[in-house]
Amino acid sequence: MNEKQRKELNQVNPVDPVEKSEQDNLSRIKEKTSDDFMKYFEATYEPPNMKKAKKRLKKEVQYHDDFEIPEELATIGEGRKFLIRTYGCQMNEHDTEVMSGILTEMGFEATTETKEADIILLNTCAIRENAENKVFGEIGHLKPLKMENPDLIIGVCGCMSQEESVVNKILKKYQYVDLIFGTHNIHRLPQLVQNAYLSKEMVVEVWSKEGDIIENMPKRRHGKIKAWVNIMYGCDKFCTYCIVPYTRGKERSRRPEDIIQEIRHLAAQGYKEVTLLGQNVNAYGKDLDIDYGLGDLMDEIRKIDIPRVKFTTSHPRDFDDRLIEVLAKGGNLMPYIHLPVQSGSSDILRVMARRYTRESYLELVRKIKEAIPNAALTTDIIVGFPNETNEQFEETISLYHEVGFEGAYTFIYSPREGTPSARIDDKISMDEKKERLQRLNAVVNEYSRKAMEKYDGKTVKVLVEGTSKKNAKVLAGYTERGKLVNFEGPKSAIGEIVEVKITNTKTWSLNGKIVEKAASEQVEVI
Ligand code: 5AD
Ligand code: SF4
Repeated sequence: MNEKQRKELNQVNPVDPVEKSEQDNLSRIKEKTSDDFMKYFEATYEPPNMKKAKKRLKKEVQYHDDFEIPEELATIGEGRKFLIRTYGCQMNEHDTEVMSGILTEMGFEATTETKEADIILLNTCAIRENAENKVFGEIGHLKPLKMENPDLIIGVCGCMSQEESVVNKILKKYQYVDLIFGTHNIHRLPQLVQNAYLSKEMVVEVWSKEGDIIENMPKRRHGKIKAWVNIMYGCDKFCTYCIVPYTRGKERSRRPEDIIQEIRHLAAQGYKEVTLLGQNVNAYGKDLDIDYGLGDLMDEIRKIDIPRVKFTTSHPRDFDDRLIEVLAKGGNLMPYIHLPVQSGSSDILRVMARRYTRESYLELVRKIKEAIPNAALTTDIIVGFPNETNEQFEETISLYHEVGFEGAYTFIYSPREGTPSARIDDKISMDEKKERLQRLNAVVNEYSRKAMEKYDGKTVKVLVEGTSKKNAKVLAGYTERGKLVNFEGPKSAIGEIVEVKITNTKTWSLNGKIVEKAASEQVEVI
C-alpha cells in the first residue's frame, strides 16, 4: 500500500490503520492465531444462521437502484491486482462478473496469476461435499503466499460462507483468511475490502436475511459473445437434499423492465446470446404483484434483436403451459431445455420433496415434445439418495430410456448439514452408490452418442465462441440445441453464427467444416 492509499483509507475510517511494515504484518498473522482472537469473535460476531435462513417472511423485496462506490474508496485498488476463483454454477460465475466489476471500479486490475494478486477471492459452491473440499484445499494452498506477502488479502465468499459450520472452520483452522462475506453482501464489497485492509482481525460479514435486489451494480462480463442475465434470485422449493434455499435466500424476481433493458443493452453491444439465470428460473414472477411469469417475459424478450436466448435452471413443477406455448414460437428462443428430474421413482421424488411424480414429469415431457418437436432435453440426476433401493434406482434408468435425454449431469447424493435428508440414517453403501452411478453414466453416454450421430452429414448453425481448448487451430462453438462443434474455419468467424457441415460425430461433440454461403443454400439446416 502506498502513502496516498493509506491516507485515503485513514480519511474514511476512524479505526487506527494497521501499520503494514513487514514486521507488523507478520505479527498481524500471529495475532490472529492467539486466544484473544477467538474471544474477539465471540464478542463481536454473529455467525450465519441456517435456521434464520430458512424463514420465509412475507416482507416485500426491496429494490435498490442506488449502488455506488464511495468516492474515497474508488482509488483503493490503484496499482493493485485482483483474482477471483469461481466454483460451482453459472450464478456464481455471474456473481464473479459483478465482483470483478466492483473491484475494477475501485481501481484494481484483473490478473490470472496468484503470485501477482494483491487480493484473491474464492467464490465458493456448497452444493456437494467434494465442492467444499476443493475450496478448503485451495485455501490451504494459499497459505505460503500469504506468509510470503502478508499484504495479500484472501477472501472467501459465495455459498459456503453462508454456512455456519464453514465459517467456524475457517475461524478456527484458516486464520490467515482476511475476509469472509456472504451471497447477500456482495454490494458491500468496497467497504469490506477497506475493512480488510484496516482491520487486524478477520472481517466477517454474512447476512442470513432473505435478500434484496440491487439493480445497478457494475459488471465486468466474461467475453463479448455470450452473457448471463439474472432474472431471479433464491429458491423456496426446499428439496430435502439441497442447501441452496439456505445459502441463496428466498425467491425474488427482478422487475421485467429492468431485465428487458439489460438485454436490449446487451443486444446493442453486439452480444449474440443471453442465458436467463435463476436457481429456479420458471418460478419467475410468482413474488411480483402482477400476473406475469417466465412465459410472458420470454414472449417479450423474443422480440429483442438478439440471436439466441436460453434459460437455466427450470423446475418441472413450475413449467407451465404458457411457457411451453411461448417456447414453441421459436425464433431466438433456443430449442434447448434443461429440466432436472433428480429421480425416476415417485417414492424417492416424494422424500426429496420435489412436488411432482414420475408420471407428471413424463406428461410434462410429452407436452414439451409435442409443442417443440426439435427440443433437446437434458437433466440432472442424483443417485443414492438415502435408502434408495435398487428397484427405485432402476426406475431412474427406465425413465431415462423413456425420455431419451440428450445429456445429463449425474451426481452421487451428498449429505449437506442442516438439510432434512442429512438426518436420515442411510443404509446404502458408497460402493453401491458408485456402482449405480457408473451404470447410469453408461446409459447417459449411450444416449448422447446416439443424439450426436443424428447430425452426421447435416449442416448446423454454430455460434463460434473461440478456438478449441485442445487445438488452437480449430474453432469451437455451440449449435442451437446446445451441441459442442469443433470445426475448421477462419478466425474471423469468432463471435459469428456460421453454418458448419458435420463430418464426424463423437459422444460429447461434433466435428465439421465451415460451409461457404453458396453451398449452404442447398442443404438442410437443423
Ligand atoms: N447431493 C448431490 N447432488 C445434489 N444436487 C443438489 N444438491 C445435491 C446434493 N446434496 C444436484 C441436483 C441439482 C444440481 C445442481 O446439483 O441434481 O439439480
Ligand atoms: Fe435446490 Fe430444489 Fe431449489 Fe433446485 S429447486 S435449488 S434442487 S431446493
